Amino acid sequence: MTEIRKVGVVGCGLMGSGIAQIAATAGHQVVVVESNAGALETGLGRIRGSLAKLTDKGKISTEMRDRALVAIESSDTLEALGDCDLVVEAIVEDLEVKKTLFADLGRATRDDCILASNTSSFPISAMAEASGRPSRVLGLHFFNPVPLMKLVEVVQSEKTDDDAFAEARAFAERCGKAPIRASDTPGFVVNRLLVPYLVEAIRMLERGEATKEDIDTGMMLGCGHPMGPLTLLDYVGLDTTLFIIDGWHERFPNDPLFTPPESLRQMVAEGRLGRKSGRGFYEWDGDKRK
Ligand code: 3HC
Repeated sequence: MTEIRKVGVVGCGLMGSGIAQIAATAGHQVVVVESNAGALETGLGRIRGSLAKLTDKGKISTEMRDRALVAIESSDTLEALGDCDLVVEAIVEDLEVKKTLFADLGRATRDDCILASNTSSFPISAMAEASGRPSRVLGLHFFNPVPLMKLVEVVQSEKTDDDAFAEARAFAERCGKAPIRASDTPGFVVNRLLVPYLVEAIRMLERGEATKEDIDTGMMLGCGHPMGPLTLLDYVGLDTTLFIIDGWHERFPNDPLFTPPESLRQMVAEGRLGRKSGRGFYEWDGDKRK
């Protein structure tokens, strides 16, 4: 088993920037590839802000912060990933775009480089086929906010070899995360359980059975969740949840758990996306609910 030293991250949005940050803090060399200059600037700023906050709170040392800031380089081309041991894809949640990227990554990286997707809902096997190197392709599914959430799902498709799986799992552990093994099934472990629960909270609100505040308080105080489902929907992004549930509904039209609620579609159409747009079920001021 070879140790992963140099990590590429494609996409510097909320998830990609978080993945780059924790990989760098753990001592890896990191190359972030982002073709949109504005998104890169925002993402690197987010990393600096998060590292500053974690240092101020004593969660990481100033040495770790400084090492991480030096370890992250950026590029707008996949050619920069040529000597990476692992590349994690965290681009837009669109399967065709991801398949094209995996085909390009198959050419741009070394044959033994592990290619990982941070997809929330698409089959790893589809991206694996496109890469031309299915035995070295797997899922590394992180949770939002990446620097704080402990879990990583390491998703093994039928073709992922055991060595690649073990190397990716060891990488997640070195990043301070707790990895679990997941099969290449819709939503893996967490989203398969979480998304139907979130969607049922929306249906409960649609049916007028409880207020949004009472639904959230119920799950926080009754089940010990840090956020209620409607706050969490806002936090994750209503568009992201709609995207996931629409994709599953298309693949499994007869499963009632995967039927998208009409009010969710309506809110997304109106631009009420949650925290990222300042308004969803609740009003938001940056990262905080008003
Ligand atoms: N880096 C550094 N600090 C961060 C941060 C980041 N990326 N994001 C938030 N913080 C900070 C906040 O700014 C806040 O700082 P402050 O105290 O100085 O204001 C602090 O962390 C959080 O402190 P709080 O007391 O406000 O909040 P909590 O202690 O409750 O923790 C939380 C926040 C970890 C987000 C917690 O509320 C939580 O666990 N929520 C649930 C999140 C969750 O379920 N995520 C998974 C979503 S599903 C998913 O990602 C899968 C995808 O495929 C859809």
